[in-house]
Amino acid sequence: MKLAVIGCGYWGPNLIRNFIQSNKVQELLCCDSDQKRLDRMKNLYPMVKVTSDYKELLQIPDLDAVAIATPAKTHHPIAKEFLSHGKHVFIEKPLTHSYETALELIQLAEEKQKILMVGHTFEYTAAVNKVKSIIESGELGKIFYIHSMRVNLGLFQPDINVVWDLAPHDISIILYLMGEVPVSVNSQGKAHFNRDIEDVATTTLNFNNGLIAFIHNSWLDPNKVRRTTIVGSRKMLVYDDIEPQEKIKIYDKGVDVPPYYDTYADFQYSYRYGDIYSPRIEDYEPLRKQCDHFIECIRKGRKPLTDGYAGLRVVSILEAANKSLKLSGRSIQIQGLKLMTKKQNKGGNGFLVAEGRR
Ligand SMILES: NC(=O)c1ccc[n+]([C@@H]2O[C@H](COP(=O)([O-])OP(=O)(O)OC[C@H]3O[C@@H](n4cnc5c(N)ncnc54)[C@H](O)[C@@H]3O)[C@@H](O)[C@H]2O)c1
Repeated sequence: MKLAVIGCGYWGPNLIRNFIQSNKVQELLCCDSDQKRLDRMKNLYPMVKVTSDYKELLQIPDLDAVAIATPAKTHHPIAKEFLSHGKHVFIEKPLTHSYETALELIQLAEEKQKILMVGHTFEYTAAVNKVKSIIESGELGKIFYIHSMRVNLGLFQPDINVVWDLAPHDISIILYLMGEVPVSVNSQGKAHFNRDIEDVATTTLNFNNGLIAFIHNSWLDPNKVRRTTIVGSRKMLVYDDIEPQEKIKIYDKGVDVPPYYDTYADFQYSYRYGDIYSPRIEDYEPLRKQCDHFIECIRKGRKPLTDGYAGLRVVSILEAANKSLKLSGRSIQIQGLKLMTKKQNKGGNGFLVAEGRR
């Protein structure tokens, strides 16, 4: 397979390293409009071909696919050109910067029968998949709420705010774990350095079944935190991605109320303080799994776990959250997404885009 990675800044080199290590990739090309970035790639990997103009890649007839790791607002125009030229496309999160552009790429990929995949990296981690299986086993009981915190100092982005930058991970994890899309979103935040670019925000996702999820994102925090807390009716779980060993801890803690009582005085909360355990999780690099999955989907014509629709669901929620941010946290309904059963979705991941948003 002949593949190109466009964007060799902070994140692109991670994709390049993983594609180079794949024995299914015979030739890799690197593209960046900044020559210094290309020189660095050439130093690291002398065998790769480089170009500073992605349009040159469009002229390579036997190029199979591209992976796009450029700033978010460039995803749509670049991807559109490659899909139109019949190439498979992987795009870093967020898929695009709007519902309409995401839908356009999905439709183009379907028309050209090409793979469109988005880099929701956390769906490929062993930890998130373990958490998913724990929730599905019923061990935590009914999920009351999720709290997801993704904060650190920087990196400030010039073109997108902290919600577009960091929340795609939290949102994709929550949707993947719960197999549900929210019905409405509220978001509040502040821009401290650049008038229009919020650097701290809290976003709330409200689901139909009573579940509520809180997301806290910041580029202005002294500590790097990547922690998701899931509180269920039976147990509680904390997934801390910074922990090197015990990333998941399950707490047999909870609150019980008497099933019936005669007077208010009889009503007593009883708190349960049970054991804490940390399940073993596999040790592998999620990006390697993600890159292998992209290649496998191309080779076998499979639907990616994180396909265009997965990208679009996250983009829709980000769009609604940003609308809410500008309206001081007003509730914004999520439109255009609906849940389908796995059967209806022919073995897919349970979601589909509903008609009628446009
Ligand atoms: N999956 C993850 O965990 C993860 C982590 C970080 C970033 N990302 C995503 O990766 C993407 C890139 O982020 P980054 O932090 O690496 O940004 P960056 O600014 O460090 O790098 C982007 C690179 O793209 C190049 N570029 C821009 N426009 C170009 C064009 N038209 N043609 C060729 N090259 C072009 C720039 O010169 C730069 O080198 C973003 O979508 C970001 O959200 C994903």
